[in-house]
Amino acid sequence: MKFTFPKWYDLHAHFRQGDNLPYYIQSHMNMACAGILAMPNTKPPITRVMGSNTDQYWTIESYLNDLKAAGADAFDQIIVPLYLTKETTPEMIIEGTQSGLLKSCKYYPPHGTTNSEFGAPIQTYMDNGVFAAMSDTGVILNIHGEEHGLSGEAYFGKNGNAEDLFYKERVPKIHEMFPNLKIACEHITTKTAADFVTQANNNVAATITPQHLLYTVADLLQGLKYHLYCLPLVKFDEDRQALLKAAVSGNKKFFAGTDSAPHTHKQTPCGCAAGCFTGDIAPQLYAEAFDLNEMNKDVFEKFLCLNGPEFYGFEKSNQSFSLEKMPSQTSPLKTKTDTIIPLTVGMERPTLQWTLNQND
Ligand code: NCD
Ligand code: ZN
Repeated sequence: MKFTFPKWYDLHAHFRQGDNLPYYIQSHMNMACAGILAMPNTKPPITRVMGSNTDQYWTIESYLNDLKAAGADAFDQIIVPLYLTKETTPEMIIEGTQSGLLKSCKYYPPHGTTNSEFGAPIQTYMDNGVFAAMSDTGVILNIHGEEHGLSGEAYFGKNGNAEDLFYKERVPKIHEMFPNLKIACEHITTKTAADFVTQANNNVAATITPQHLLYTVADLLQGLKYHLYCLPLVKFDEDRQALLKAAVSGNKKFFAGTDSAPHTHKQTPCGCAAGCFTGDIAPQLYAEAFDLNEMNKDVFEKFLCLNGPEFYGFEKSNQSFSLEKMPSQTSPLKTKTDTIIPLTVGMERPTLQWTLNQND
């Protein structure tokens, strides 16, 4: 079984900064990616649109230049969202849109994930005119949808979790207050989120990662496979099944966004860095997930290559690549100074079921 597709877009990925940047970009090129949405949780974070970097913040303008200088100029689309903080103003949104540099803004739950400590509670932007300005100018809201500040059973329990609560309590209110605001619900992991996106109007869409389609919390816990530790956490099988159902439904609201996050050190002094690295291997993993439901080429093509560009308002790629159902191996990414371990290494089924070929 071998299929040819237009090159695809990764509408949620992390590339960080510094000397490793070219390696991370190359690993996206290696997997036939035509364009990226590069998340702004760099150090320092990207909380301004234009001008030069400072020690406190970076700008979209300068990060775009860094990405391009590291090889991303070969992509046909690069979007860098603005990291929302309590200092973001409606004027920044309006000026940012006029500059042509601002396409989307990212909500991070304060202290909820990697480099998210600059985020403010979501109510802030509902009250201070930022979401209103985004709605008026067509700037997309990228949401990391987890309630912040929860612990114990409320964070992750039998009867709910931080994402579940966020999609029951928060996002419906934003959508009701700003029905024209385009919302990309990032890396959804629960049935609650998938159901919300399905019943909302067409301004609401969602990205789904390969790991959330393929794995559950049991895969993470058995043997403590910490390379699968990402946020939001992988959940239970009912949730995974709901995500898969949404992904294979053909509904244009669901599309690829890997959340690939190259952590050079997963082990921290007091825990584990959140984020899975799927550079080089994401289309192969997505294909494996779609195959669980008997691969339908057209539906897979929509999810991987077409729905995302349509939501973000650009054309599909006119280049192509192919995927063949034939086993292939995953290998660590070696940069000059670091080794990044991709997702399937050490997992129960490390061998990929699909092989990717460029420019077929
Ligand atoms: C991301 C990272 O490493 O930057 N980590 C993750 O677990 N997904 C941040 C994020 O998207 O939450
Ligand atoms: Zn992310």
